[in-house]
Amino acid sequence: MGIEYTVAIAEAAARKSGLPIALHLDHGSSFEVAMQCIRAGFSSVMFDGSHYSLEENIRLTKEVVRAAHAMGVSVEGELGTIGGVEDDISVDEEHAALAKPEEAIRFYEETGVDALAIAVGTAHGMYKGEPKIHYDIIQKVADAIPVPIVLHGGSGVPDEAIRQSIQAGVGKINVNTENQVACTNAIREVLSGDSKVYDPRKYLAPARNAMIEVVREKIRLFGSSNQA
Ligand code: 13P
Repeated sequence: MGIEYTVAIAEAAARKSGLPIALHLDHGSSFEVAMQCIRAGFSSVMFDGSHYSLEENIRLTKEVVRAAHAMGVSVEGELGTIGGVEDDISVDEEHAALAKPEEAIRFYEETGVDALAIAVGTAHGMYKGEPKIHYDIIQKVADAIPVPIVLHGGSGVPDEAIRQSIQAGVGKINVNTENQVACTNAIREVLSGDSKVYDPRKYLAPARNAMIEVVREKIRLFGSSNQA
């Protein structure tokens, strides 16, 4: 999208909504990318050092936290590797590794992150079967640290599993793919129903409405209505 456009759109939407909305960088890959986003106006960044060793992940995340906090920006870290495909980055099930609670607690204590994503069995993208979520890992970490546990790979997780994850201590849930699916299905429906359509507004408006519906349902499911 380009950083400037992203910030301008998010700022306009946040202002118009009157809600305390964060503009958050997901899976930032380096210190440099995180700093570029902060400089452009992001209010929150994720530094995903999960593919490094624990020691290196701690060291790099600490650097981002130090710089981000100096500028009043919050930081999400990640421990364990979350499987699936997102933005062409693919982690196969074999290399997806669950987070170890004691490492997650140490990671929080040493880095001072404001939110912590831990791999607990979900994956990016849609599931072939049902994900097996390790609620015990969520519970152990949530009981020991005061910041929100983040559940990535929220698309396609059954409602009951989402409720149980929240019960165990999840405080932030990422959903991307379900919005993409709703958007594309709406566009496909318009285009396949009328081959003469050429005005993008004719299919982008239904696409936007379809995504609004997904987001509305998630807000209700997560118990987030009127919580901003
Ligand atoms: P989904 O692909 O399941 O929507 O996950 C999105 C996500 O976790 C973004 O970081």
